[in-house]
Amino acid sequence: MCPNAPHNLSPNSTPISPDLAAAVRLLQSGELVAFPTETVYGLGADAANPTAVAKIFAAKGRPAEHPLIVHLSGADYLEQWARDIPSSARKLAEAFWPGPLTLILARAPTVPYAVTGGQETVGVRVPSHPLALALLRAYAQEGGGRGAMCGVAAPSANRFGRISPTDAAHVREELGAAVALVLDGGACDVGIESTIIDLTRHGLPPRLLRPGHITPEQIGEVIGEFPEVPDSMKPAKVPRVSGSLDGHYAPRTAMRLTASGDLFRAIEETQAQGKRCGLLLHSLLTPPQTHLLHSLRRLPDNPAAYARGLYAALRELDQAGNDIILVEAIPSGPDWAAVADRPRRAVHGSGIKPL
Ligand code: TXA
Ligand code: MG
Repeated sequence: MCPNAPHNLSPNSTPISPDLAAAVRLLQSGELVAFPTETVYGLGADAANPTAVAKIFAAKGRPAEHPLIVHLSGADYLEQWARDIPSSARKLAEAFWPGPLTLILARAPTVPYAVTGGQETVGVRVPSHPLALALLRAYAQEGGGRGAMCGVAAPSANRFGRISPTDAAHVREELGAAVALVLDGGACDVGIESTIIDLTRHGLPPRLLRPGHITPEQIGEVIGEFPEVPDSMKPAKVPRVSGSLDGHYAPRTAMRLTASGDLFRAIEETQAQGKRCGLLLHSLLTPPQTHLLHSLRRLPDNPAAYARGLYAALRELDQAGNDIILVEAIPSGPDWAAVADRPRRAVHGSGIKPL
């Protein structure tokens, strides 16, 4: 058992399936294991073992100064990873864990810099996917990793900057032999990455670092203070110059966000240039017969269902041999804010030039 383990969990209290036992052994021996979370699939390693963490960066092709999120089986393990934990963190953990919320806290002295990207802060979350929780609980039950620390570092299990995987098959496509084991928990329910909130800004309001399923309004209600939301994440603000955005979640195919009313003209323009055009819709618009689309995907017109299907749809459109993917612009408004963030960054990462 790990230090600081919950008192009501006695060692070997839960039988561990052969798959999970194998996953735990691999993690403990410094190997990579991909696993489902409710948001996207993660590429996991013992967060206390810098050599294991280095394998994550190598497999993803990710620069080493990018910090990773440490996944825990419960808030009981917070003290292993963080210090000076504010009461707001306890309240948010109580309200939203297990679930798609990552807290940025001051790092405990034993947390390797490999996992924090050299920073004095650490990101932690307790995922709610049953297989992720079972893995993390089994890991803790078997003594955890190096120094009996019970945290699994896991970024999204995609190549750096590319579309996050929401299915075990996506992970194999992205990472192939680089990952020792992929635990298959089916399609992810939320479909976009966790909300990230920075709680380390002494005397200043917490700051939203990444929008997600859990909204700033929900966070504000729990902690009694509305978090600071950077302009680029505000729902109605679509930056004209996307240079302020990191390229992320991006298909290899060029991609463009187009207002519903401009879509048909945009299709004509791209086809007039002899380009194969894919289309991602959320409204009931139906392109005229004259528009011979190479491929079309339609996602539901509500934010949660759109988020659930978004990455799989982008991945399919990316693989369909299109020269360009036109994405119907996402509605403005707070309900769509977290979803809208992803295509915006994907456009930037796809490297498209204006037509
Ligand atoms: O939903 C998720 O959060 C998924 C699943 C697997 O849990 N994970 C995920 O990890 O999206 P990743 O590495 O793809 O994105 C983590 C983000 C990065 O943008 C990173 O910069 C930020 O979290 N992050 C992690 N630790 C941080 C820290 N100490 N300070 C600021 N940002 C941090
Ligand atoms: Mg990622």
